[in-house]
Amino acid sequence: MDVATLDRLIEQFDKEHGGIVALLQDVQAAEGYLPRPALERIAQDLELPLSQLYGLATFYRAFSLRPKGKHTVTCCMGTACHVRGGQQVVDRIARELGVEPGETTPDMQFTLETVNCLGACALGPLVVVDGEYHGRLSSAKVSRLIDRYR
Ligand code: FES
Repeated sequence: MDVATLDRLIEQFDKEHGGIVALLQDVQAAEGYLPRPALERIAQDLELPLSQLYGLATFYRAFSLRPKGKHTVTCCMGTACHVRGGQQVVDRIARELGVEPGETTPDMQFTLETVNCLGACALGPLVVVDGEYHGRLSSAKVSRLIDRYR
């Protein structure tokens, strides 16, 4: 995001008295994460402590302070998924991608994340890729699933 675009977003924030979260969402949507220079500019222009922005950025799961891959693979680690083999699925995906949960592949294609429940426990083990739900997954099906997004 160029500086002019960011300034325009900050101006809209001022005019509309919208929430700072909405402003951060706009930056996140444009960049895929919240770059430090953008946070510094927002803090400066709105006369907010940078620590407040970092506090918001780390509180909401939707925000990331690091660049994310083109595809986000979210594995459920909740109880219902866990008892049906969720850990094996996560381990297999981590091996397949060569990253640990919370990391992004060096080619910036995949970010692997874990969550505690995706709200569809009957489908466990459940993995969501770019918002698409893949239920009753087994480690044997992982390669085929990842290949669909390569
Ligand atoms: S425990 Fe996995 S979706 Fe609820």
